[in-house]
Parts: sequence; C-alpha cells; structure tokens
Amino acid sequence: MKLFSSVHDVTDINALVADALQLKQNPYAHQHLGKNRTIGLVFLNPSLRTRMSTQKAALNLGMNVMVLNIDKEGWALELKDGAVMNGTTVEHIREAAAVMGQYVDIIGVRSFPGLKNREEDYNEEIFNKFVNYCAVPVVSLESATRHPLQSLADLVTITELKTKPRPKVVLTWAPHIKPLPQAVPNSFAEWMCKADVDFTIAHPKGYELSTDFTNGATITHNQDEALKDADFIYVKNWSAYEPYGKILPSNEDWMLTNEKLQITNAAKVMHCLPVRRNLELSDEILNGRNSIVVHEAGNRVWAAQAVLKKMLESL
Ligand code: CP
Repeated sequence: MKLFSSVHDVTDINALVADALQLKQNPYAHQHLGKNRTIGLVFLNPSLRTRMSTQKAALNLGMNVMVLNIDKEGWALELKDGAVMNGTTVEHIREAAAVMGQYVDIIGVRSFPGLKNREEDYNEEIFNKFVNYCAVPVVSLESATRHPLQSLADLVTITELKTKPRPKVVLTWAPHIKPLPQAVPNSFAEWMCKADVDFTIAHPKGYELSTDFTNGATITHNQDEALKDADFIYVKNWSAYEPYGKILPSNEDWMLTNEKLQITNAAKVMHCLPVRRNLELSDEILNGRNSIVVHEAGNRVWAAQAVLKKMLESL
C-alpha cells in the first residue's frame, strides 16, 4: 500500500479489520518490519488521538517516529503554485514536502479544510500536494474531506463489539457552536456503505452530505425514526455542504439523551472525540454504560498499525 487516503485505497476492508484485531492481540509481532524505517507525522492542525495513536502504532512496529507540528514549529508554508512569496509565507510546499521525503520512509499528513472554498477543499489541494511532492508513501491523518484512520478504527470497534452479524448503525448529526468539517461523517459514511451493516444517516434538513460519500445509506430527517432498534449510534456535528461550511438555524433538540436511547436496541454510543459535553453529547450519555468513546479511541492504535504494516510490507 503506497497511499491510504480513503476506503478506496483498501482492496479488502474485512481483511484490514481482521489484521487490526490480530495486532491488538499481538502488538509487537512485526517489529522487524519497521527496523531502520522512519515515519514523519506532519500536522497542519491540532491533534491528540491521531498523533499519539499513530506514533504508538509506529513504535509497536519497530519504527522511528518524527513529529512536526508544521503550523507552529515549521516555516510558514505557501500552498499556491505561482505565488509571489513577498508576504508572510516563507517556504513553498513543493520544497517542504520533497525535503521531508528525503528524511523519512512514510509520511502522515493532517490538513483540515478552510470551509470557505468547497472546490478547493473537495479537491484535497493541500493533501494532494504532499502526495505529489514527497515521493514516499503517504497516510492521511485526516484531510479536508476524509478521516480514514478514524473510520477504520470505528469499523474495528463495531466489528469487535457487535452482537449480531449485520448490526444497525446510525450516524446522527449533533449541535455545535462552530462550523466543523464534513471529513469525519463523509469518511464514516463511505466506510459504512462498504461494510456489512444496516446503515442510516439522520440529520436536520440542510445538512445533506455529498452523495459521493452516502451512496447506499438510508437518509432521514427524523432522528427518532433512525434511532429505532439501532445497535450503534455515531454522534457527530458537521457544517452544511450547501451553503458550504455554514451553521444553519439552531437544532438543540438533536443532542442525544438517555431518553432517546430508550428507543434503540441498547445502542452503543460512538464519537470520534474531541467532544463538547452537553452541546454535542450529554454528560449522562458520555458517563453512562452505553458510551464506548474511549474504547473506540483506543482502537485508533490498531487501525493505524494495520495500515502502517501494509505500507511497510510494500516498501
Ligand atoms: N478523532 C481525532 O482525530 O482526534 P484528534 O483530532 O485529537 O486527533
């Protein structure tokens, strides 16, 4: 595997999930693969889980790890081709990415969308420039439109905890005070549409995701209808795709509560984290027995390790 940017880079998602669960049982079995190999983790945006879990995954595989918070510690990057760099930017992404590729065997990149220009974000301009210029395999640590390591960890978690062969999985929109990217819901949707689950997306009118990611899902504006008999509920806020990056008039009653859980099949509640308590998800849910958010975050290690193992095997 030379690129991990979406579910489309994976030939067999069930095999990858099985690999991740195998690695969870035996984390250090493949240390020989990473000997004398280095991964560079480059962050243009903040991270707790992705940074630590990917670093841990690489260490489990015997790799060396370099982390660069390029937004804070690096030279200010110019992203536009043809720019006259007489402003605040100091280094062009062409040289920066190419130089990083000289120091490492694999690069991980995190870049968020600007949420201003949909075409620019959905063309993945920043992530693709790293892919084009670094000349080594690239793993997405979340890009403008997708978060595939998160989605793989989510599928690992569902596979591990399901109590029936084809569980009902519901992605439900939740309120927030800031416009958030569509990357996590887009990515979760496209992975669930390929997984052996009964998948429903519930959101208020106006928060439709791009159909490029939701083909095969049942989509409803009625949260109660969606939650009925759900086995897993994935809670997430996202801003509108049209008008792009906007928050629409308030929908406070979309926050999941214990009362709403009553209509589910004692659903397990998921969230990628970080989560704003009592805005996106209530204390009673997060502190309650149905929440599996920490377990889910723990599985980020095994998802990342399964992907890095595949990349190391192809070097
Ligand atoms: N879920 C997730 O990607 O968390 P971080 O932003 O902390 O990495």
